Amino acid sequence: MLEIPIRLRRNRRTEAIRQMVQETELRASDLIAPFFIIEGERRSQTIPSLPEIERVTVDRMVEKAERLHRKGVQAIALFPALESGLRTEGAEEAWNSDGLIPRAIREIKKEIPSLCVIADVALDPYTSHGHDGLVNERGEILNDETIECLIKMAMVQAEAGIDLVAPSDMMDGRVRAIREALDKVGKQHVGVLAYSAKYASSLYAPFREALDVRLKFGDKKSYQLNPANVREALLEAKLDEEEGADILLVKPALFYLDIIARLRQQTNRPIAAYHVSGEYAMVMAAGQLGYLDPTRVFHEALVSIKRAGADLIFTYAAERVLAQM
Ligand code: PBG
Repeated sequence: MLEIPIRLRRNRRTEAIRQMVQETELRASDLIAPFFIIEGERRSQTIPSLPEIERVTVDRMVEKAERLHRKGVQAIALFPALESGLRTEGAEEAWNSDGLIPRAIREIKKEIPSLCVIADVALDPYTSHGHDGLVNERGEILNDETIECLIKMAMVQAEAGIDLVAPSDMMDGRVRAIREALDKVGKQHVGVLAYSAKYASSLYAPFREALDVRLKFGDKKSYQLNPANVREALLEAKLDEEEGADILLVKPALFYLDIIARLRQQTNRPIAAYHVSGEYAMVMAAGQLGYLDPTRVFHEALVSIKRAGADLIFTYAAERVLAQM
């Protein structure tokens, strides 16, 4: 026998020991399930690029959310798949208190009060051009004018009973503006989950298919982050924290684990990561070709996101992963 004084394999010898020394644990309560909501009753629509994920009416959303909540999921996130007739230059439908999302919020909070409900605050599902903000005649995204809209949108969601508003627009100064507006009307209890480090990624394509959001011109690079940058993401997160964000989000997740890890060292706030539509679609597509086992890949992906330092993960794979947890 060789003389090997330190044998690390001893801690991997049996399943019992492996479990005892496991450093990261994925829990159902870490997962946040996104929902694409459509108008109507008892309807669902498949989304070709997102196998097993559907657009659903509010009643179906409540049923699905209930199943997930019973398995330990504590939060869902709502996104509206709006009829194109409701999309305008000025995105006015975004702050219609009788709109699809406010109604969905009221319904889910009535049916499952213990579930945490999150909604995006951004204009892209509501604008005719598909950008997250108002646009001038030169096609530039107007920061401060957009914030006025985001405030109205957040207020309507707060009035409907939202737990966390999630500005995903990347305008400068919107976290402070939303926080102050909420506080002024006695909504101190409503939290802000800020999409702090949101990158201009190609991985959102299936999401845009799900909501049928097509950019009429340009791209989102004047507001979303350059994938090549780290320090800028850390600055965005620091600012959002100073402006009053309760939770800081990094998006996408797997290509940006270094950002999550660096942010973990910078902040004591909870960190969320968004395992986005493209990350889900790639694995499902490979699974359909028989190249890998999607559920196992998802489990490994989500554990990796936690290991990097995230506390919470938005993921379309919640149901699949929970079935095997
Ligand atoms: C809207 C928004 C997007 C996503 C979440 N909120 C798309 C975008 O910014 O174009 C993407 C989520 C996903 O791909 O799963 N601001």
